Amino acid sequence: MTSQIQPQPGIMDIALYEGGAATVAGKSNITKLSSNENPAGPSDKAKEAFARSAHQLHRYPSTDHAALRLAIGQTHGLEPERVVCGVGSDEIIHFLCQAYAGPGDEVLFTEHGFLMYRISAMAAGATPVEVVERERTTDVAALLAACTDRTKLVFIANPNNPTGTMISEAEIAQLADGLPPQAILVLDGAYAEYVDGYDGGLALIEARENVVMTRTFSKIYGLGGLRIGWGYGPKAIIDVLNRIRGPFNLSNTQLETAEAAARDQDYVARCRAENARLRVWLAEALATLGIPSDTSLGNFILARFASSEEAEACDMHLRGEGLIVRRVASYKLPHCLRITVGDESACRRVVHAIAQFKGKD
Ligand SMILES: Cc1ncc(COP(=O)(O)O)c(C=O)c1O
Repeated sequence: MTSQIQPQPGIMDIALYEGGAATVAGKSNITKLSSNENPAGPSDKAKEAFARSAHQLHRYPSTDHAALRLAIGQTHGLEPERVVCGVGSDEIIHFLCQAYAGPGDEVLFTEHGFLMYRISAMAAGATPVEVVERERTTDVAALLAACTDRTKLVFIANPNNPTGTMISEAEIAQLADGLPPQAILVLDGAYAEYVDGYDGGLALIEARENVVMTRTFSKIYGLGGLRIGWGYGPKAIIDVLNRIRGPFNLSNTQLETAEAAARDQDYVARCRAENARLRVWLAEALATLGIPSDTSLGNFILARFASSEEAEACDMHLRGEGLIVRRVASYKLPHCLRITVGDESACRRVVHAIAQFKGKD
């Protein structure tokens, strides 16, 4: 007998999100390079705020996140009343889909785009629409051509995960200006802090009514385990998102730790510089081994192998050496491995192991 208890249509079609693996059976000295985490972790100031928050665990947190929004506003030169905070930027993506897309509506994202766009679109009952990229890079013309009068949201990550590529502000402006009137462009800036001098496309947001930005404390701030993200956009859209946000979606610990992290921009600058240095080193070392990658602007490299079989074999070899990188077949890149830029010893370790795999050590 079929149960009469059934989820909303489409929910059972959602493929479960698989995070980067963290363990290898039988191995203890693991180096995890599969989730684009900051190898240095959070700043000392953030850790101190985290410890202090233990004294307030019996208190309900703020519902309006005013102190964190102020810190974000002051750090990025934007209006705190147009910031919304969530449980990772994942939650902001989810809010956007819940609020703006439903059955019959289309949510666009790029061929190698972040998996949560599809999941959140389907959770809202909307139709996910995947749009081809050009050489692993967002293709504005293809996105505009894919728009219809049912398009409600268009997600692009800049830089994109897992490709590491980025498009210019002029191209983003062209996209925003060419969208149908009922559609919102979402600029996912999860890796924006890694790009020297890039503010995530703020000017585009300030000048338009149809652009929203999402950001996270999970990457350069080293707080992926704590789950804090935020969105910024036109007042009317942020007001809508706040209506579906749970009043206590973030704990005191999340709010206070993120506030201290946002105020420690010296730490962010140091992490950005170190990442850039090691990213170049890693990409060049892999190129020398015959493994090309596009110039990455994030904290990871998308290493391209000759075939999916070679990528899989290399992944197995790395696991045997206690190194976990990310297979990206679910991003339609079965011949690639995404390797997070770890600390110097991790970068050396992964290059050494890949050289072994290639018989070039
Ligand atoms: C492009 C992109 N957007 C958003 C996220 C979500 O990050 P979080 O929910 O931790 O803020 C990630 C995480 O990997 C990402 O790669």
